[in-house]
Amino acid sequence: MNNKFLDQLIAIRRKIHRYPELGEREFRTAQFIEKNLRALKIKFRRVGKTGVLASLGQGARCIALRADMDALPLMEKKPLPYASKNRGVMHACGHDAHVAMLLGAAMLLAQKKNLPGVVKFFFQPNEEGSGGAKSLVSAGVMQNPKVQAVVGLHVNPRFPTGKIGLKPGPLMASVDKFTLEIFGQGGHAAYPHEGKDAILIAAEAILALQSIVSRRIDPLEPAVLTIGTMQGGARYNILAEKVTLTGTVRTLSSKTQAQIPRFMRQILQGVTKSHGGKYKLDYQTIGALLANDPKVCALSRQVAARVFGESQIVDLETASMGGEDFSEYLRQAPGCFIYIGTGNKALGTQFPWHHPEFNIDERALIVGSTLLSEVAQEFLTKGTA
Ligand code: NI
Repeated sequence: MNNKFLDQLIAIRRKIHRYPELGEREFRTAQFIEKNLRALKIKFRRVGKTGVLASLGQGARCIALRADMDALPLMEKKPLPYASKNRGVMHACGHDAHVAMLLGAAMLLAQKKNLPGVVKFFFQPNEEGSGGAKSLVSAGVMQNPKVQAVVGLHVNPRFPTGKIGLKPGPLMASVDKFTLEIFGQGGHAAYPHEGKDAILIAAEAILALQSIVSRRIDPLEPAVLTIGTMQGGARYNILAEKVTLTGTVRTLSSKTQAQIPRFMRQILQGVTKSHGGKYKLDYQTIGALLANDPKVCALSRQVAARVFGESQIVDLETASMGGEDFSEYLRQAPGCFIYIGTGNKALGTQFPWHHPEFNIDERALIVGSTLLSEVAQEFLTKGTA
């Protein structure tokens, strides 16, 4: 039965892999999900343009399981028989596998005659663009009935196939985004004293901003401040009037997250003032810190150990500075985000996420489906108390 089930999961995953779609445009993927749910006689509804919310069972307890659906604007490099047919779009983060795993969990749970509660299935668009989870939450997926625990997973090429990575507490960073404009005053490059060189001011500002993480933040608190783009100037012999920079800040605590924009403003004020320039900082939080609930994490770990064996579990010691909008659900209910190992050098699935040669060891699909289904049943039967 297991081989047949795995074959089904592989077929689903490959179908989605072949037709990857960018965030908010997952029309074909949503239709395919709905077709599968219909065949399983699971009730569902469309949320927004491309989200799908399904639910199964009834009772006092309610758990939600989530899969993201979107692909990336990337050209697939591997000549796979099921390689992307949408040129320049690729499932390079494994969201095709997440959909297959969640549909697999739905298949397993649909076979249970008396589910002791409600399982909701969130098929979420647009994780990469950020905004998909938020749109589902504001459409009310966490209510009626109220979700008491939420579990999601992500394939992970850093772990061997089938390993299950877990960590209570902070797992992924908050994601902030900023646009910084530095204003000087134009003029002839041969007469710099008559203008205010925005490029020089920007150069000093960039270096000074790097002192925030190295000198202002507690060294035991993880933080990243990266400037990703820089644009300015018009010509080699003209003093630049304006430079625009964009960047991101990642932190693992709300205290550090609040400190950084404050320190940025102090530095920018000082640097620009000393050159007679000005600045404008547009600073936004686009993703919250992803922190796993200790109780839901402990329940997931216990289920994973029972079903797959203690040796399959990787207890993660450190968080990552990457972001994931699963954090939006965790602001509404306790939950856990779990890694499923898909790395296998012999199969060439060791490439990192977002790499043009990214692929997964498909044997991990059955691990994801089984784990989601078992965690849901355990929670509905016993809760976390
Ligand atoms: Ni991803």
